[in-house]
Amino acid sequence: MTKKVFMNTMGCQMNVYDSTRMLDALAALGWTETQTPEEADLLMVNTCYIREKAADKVFSCLGRFQEIKQARARKGQDTLIAVAGCVVQALGDAVLKKAHSVDIAVGPQSYHKLPELVTRFNRKTGRKTVAEFTSVEKFDTLAPPVSHGCTAFLAIQEGCDNFCSYCVVPYTRGCEYSRSAQAVLDEARALADTGAKEIMLLGQNVDCWHGAGPDGKPWHLARLIERLAEIDGLQRIRYTTSYPVDITDDMIAAHRDIPKLMPYIHLPIQSGSDAVLKAMNRRYNVSQYLAVVDKLRTARPDIAVSSDFIVGFPGETDADFEQTLAVVDQVRYAQSYSFKYSPRPGTPASLMKNQVPEAVKAERLCVLQTKLLALQKAYNLRFVGQTLPVLLTEHGKEKGQLNGYSPYLQNVHVCLPENRLGDIVDLHITGATASSLSAEPASLSSKRN
Ligand code: 5AD
Ligand code: SF4
Repeated sequence: MTKKVFMNTMGCQMNVYDSTRMLDALAALGWTETQTPEEADLLMVNTCYIREKAADKVFSCLGRFQEIKQARARKGQDTLIAVAGCVVQALGDAVLKKAHSVDIAVGPQSYHKLPELVTRFNRKTGRKTVAEFTSVEKFDTLAPPVSHGCTAFLAIQEGCDNFCSYCVVPYTRGCEYSRSAQAVLDEARALADTGAKEIMLLGQNVDCWHGAGPDGKPWHLARLIERLAEIDGLQRIRYTTSYPVDITDDMIAAHRDIPKLMPYIHLPIQSGSDAVLKAMNRRYNVSQYLAVVDKLRTARPDIAVSSDFIVGFPGETDADFEQTLAVVDQVRYAQSYSFKYSPRPGTPASLMKNQVPEAVKAERLCVLQTKLLALQKAYNLRFVGQTLPVLLTEHGKEKGQLNGYSPYLQNVHVCLPENRLGDIVDLHITGATASSLSAEPASLSSKRN
């Protein structure tokens, strides 16, 4: 009988990619994925440590896993529990000490060891944590992935050497590492051959990618994207996340010259105050950031810009926060993610004396999110009446409805038969909210006019 695995993925897109690779590796050994934890022989959670809330969620999930494991044991069924991801890297063996039902813990650089750990697991020899920094192996020892839909993630770079003072990533994902151009091109081809129309290149600092080219010399991201654009079947290329001042002129030109490179950039500013940016150890000030946005908009006037924000960083005053609001008004972001500052163990900012009270953080977050949502709605409303090419990626919530993405990464709903999934279809935009667009087939609306 085939064994079943249930995977709960928390956190960022890199974790989604990692979970897919782990599931693919287990599938090669005969494991099938289930969405029902009660029927799983292996319960897995891929964890995130970026904010305190994310780390807390892991232990409540493990509590639920423990109950399932006990209920299955009463029926004579054995269950393995495995924890993967950044919490393991950060806490090490403490995960096993804190959550007694966990059998295996693997750090984000060691997941290529998971199949062996699962296969060889033996209740007598005991529970195990593997959390070494061995990224080279991790990426390239697993079989090439298959695409599980028409859009796929592809990690090209991992780790970070920036050490922003609030961030755990350099400690959990290690130092910056780039995969070779050939490895990326091969993986992209494998994804395209198995149905991917769009790939999202992933890296904590994706613009720093400098993998070895087939000629042995380091390539930069723009050259890699140029080559990826030559792959038949791949229609859309995206990348994330960009560190604002690491974007090269070549990348800006790529946005102008490569039609398959989508007009969207995630460009986290974090704060609109130079003083806060300095305390955060970000390597730019507001005017340098705005200059990058200007250059991008000059090269590609319709480019959609999104950002991350942290409110209530230690020492952030009302005046600093006002400056963040002013930048938001100036840039007019198409989409954004905003968070209350969360002190993380081992980071310099967590030791700063001037922590901002929780109530102030909550209030600032509310003000910022209200503004960001209003701008996002205004951005989306501009598209009503226009026609956009939409990649139809999944079934919608309503019956007969499909969901997809515009070039600007707006979520679009339309009523179309399900055999259109995976197609890029011209849609006439009929309505907009802050979070999505509604549409009808452009052929239908042109018949009506
Ligand atoms: N507190 C709040 N937000 C954080 N981020 C990273 N670390 C923290 C933290 N300690 C946010 C940043 C980053 C995004 C992925 O998460 O905005 O860009
Ligand atoms: Fe964290 Fe800063 Fe690196 Fe982004 S650039 S992963 S925020 S340390």
